[in-house]
Order: sequence, then C-alpha cells, then structure tokens
Amino acid sequence: MDTRVVPADNKHLSVAVESFRNSEPVVLPTETVYGLAAPITDERAVRRVFEIKGRPADNPLIVHINTFEQLHALTKELPGYTEELFDAFWPGPLTIIARAKRPHDAVTAGRDTIAVRMPAHPFIQLLIDEAGPLAAPSANLSGKPSPTTAEHCVQDLDGTVGVIFDGGPGLHGVESTVIDVTSEKPVILRPGVITQDMLEDVARTPFTRYTDTSGKSPGTKYAHYQPDARVLLAQDPDALDASSLGRVLVVSPQQPSYPCTHIPLPTDPQDVAKHLYAWLRRADKEGFDTIVITPPQDVGVGSAVRDRLLRAAKHS
Ligand code: TXA
Ligand code: MG
Repeated sequence: MDTRVVPADNKHLSVAVESFRNSEPVVLPTETVYGLAAPITDERAVRRVFEIKGRPADNPLIVHINTFEQLHALTKELPGYTEELFDAFWPGPLTIIARAKRPHDAVTAGRDTIAVRMPAHPFIQLLIDEAGPLAAPSANLSGKPSPTTAEHCVQDLDGTVGVIFDGGPGLHGVESTVIDVTSEKPVILRPGVITQDMLEDVARTPFTRYTDTSGKSPGTKYAHYQPDARVLLAQDPDALDASSLGRVLVVSPQQPSYPCTHIPLPTDPQDVAKHLYAWLRRADKEGFDTIVITPPQDVGVGSAVRDRLLRAAKHS
C-alpha cells in the first residue's frame, strides 16, 4: 500500500474519515507521541492496528475520547478523586485505567478494565467528533521507540498504513501518564509528564508506583523503546571501556575523552523527554553500535525519562 503524508489540519480531516470508512487505521499526532488510530466500534480496523504494529494480542489499547459522556459510556465506578484529576489534567497527557462498563474485547484484550484518555491535540479532537472514540497505541512497530515526528512514523510504517498526518514534533515527547483508578488507592502504571507530585496535589490522596512486571500493566512485560543499537546508561560515560563501544553516540553533560558523537544532555528533564526517542532512533538511522545516555534523577518528569531508558536498555 502507498503511504501518503499529509498535514494534520481541518482540510485533510476528510482523508481520515474516508480511511475509517474502509476500516483502515490512520497515523496522527497527539500532544505526546504519534498514534495509530481506529474507531473502537470497528473491530476490523482495531484488529488492523494490532497487525500493523505487530502488537501482542494481550496488550490492550488506550481509548481516546472528547467528552465526559463518552467517558461514562465506557467506564463505571470512578472514585471521587478522579473528578479533580479530570478538571486539572484533561484534555491532556493522563490516561486512566477504570472498570469497563461493558466488554470492548477488541480494544481491552478481554480485560474487564479499559484505558481512557482525553487528548489535547486539536486534530485528534476533531476526528473524534467525526468518528467517535478512537483506540490508538503509539504509532511505532511493537518494541521500538515511540514516534515523535511524522518521519519516525514513516520509518516504521511506510507501506503498511494509507496515511500519516504530519503535525510536527510531539509536544511532550513521552507517552501519557497511566494511572489505575479501579480502587480508592490509585497506582501509577506508567510515569509521564504529569508527575506523581502533580497527581497527589490535585487528588489529595497518595499514589503508589507500580513496580511488579506482571498482571496489572500488561504492556510492561514486553520489550519497549528499543533501538537496534545497544543502549547503555552511565552517570559518567568517561568511566566506560571505550574499546567495547564500537561507533558510539553519547548523550551526557560533558563530552567524553574518547572519540564519539556527543549530544549535550539538556538540564531540564522536560527537554530530555522531548528528544529522547529522536536520539534512540538517530542511533539506528546513522548506524551507531551503541548509544550511551546519562539518566536524569528519579524525580518529576525525570521519572518518566528514567522509566523509558531502563526499558530501552533492558536487553533480554
Ligand atoms: O500518550 C499516549 O498514551 C500515546 C498516545 C498515542 O495517546 N499512546 C500510547 O499507547 O502510549 P500504547 O498502546 O503505546 O500504550 C498504552 C499502555 C500500554 O502499556 C498498555 O499495556 C496499557 O497502556 N493499557 C491499556 N489498557 C490497559 C488496561 N486495561 N489495563 C492496564 N494497562 C492498560
Ligand atoms: Mg507504545
């Protein structure tokens, strides 16, 4: 199939609607990363999403909504503290896992819970107005770093999707914060730019961080964010044995003393989040053997970056 890249604007909305008429998912920008979207009412299109990504069948998708009516049609038994969270963070990069009102097996992989978020990007909002709630995982091949530009989407999905809507670089750079709200004690399943402190301030209840690798967060048991290049995390890249690195890309505060391509690590973890996936992808595009990155501290947005880096560096 030929893949077209077109601007993510009002004029091209009809191209997406037309694709959905043929049960074909589309790639579109969100305020976090690019998504591969299909209407949740079209099982065939949702199945295509899994096929195109090579996504394991037991890893459920996030449903993107635009109204609270849609939220209540999909979920039940939301704890009181979610009201404050929606007021503060929706539309935006926060996903809740709630009890599903009725089965949506194609989307939820047979679970009795459902992941829902209200995205802030105008293009996906307009498309939800036209097509209803959209299931959309990140628009990368399963296991690879998420795409933050249309070019990243082309790298992974050229020839397997009909259309990629180009909305420029992703705003936040990492995927939404995912929280489990199926009990009075909320759990952070995936850290993001909406941080634990922000959540606790608004909800006025403590959040725990999920650490187990089975059960509650099905996505966490699979390889994730991994380029072909080896990913090494190092507080001090100069302490590494340079002879074992091959051609190496280093993202760190100081330029190491051995020959390498060096990218200065931004001091603000928000900026690290924004560029992280582009660095991982650059390592492959330019044929580096190794990418060395100095991870930020495990606080605030730094926690989201560390989470992705630890997974990227985990070679099984
Ligand atoms: O920012 C984002 O969230 C992006 C954009 C496109 O919206 N989407 C995204 O989707 O990151 P994806 O599929 O790459 O990640 C969704 C995560 C996965 O780890 C999945 O396992 C988890 O959410 N998830 C989905 N439904 C779930 C459920 N019912 N229970 C637990 N985890 C769930
Ligand atoms: Mg993903």
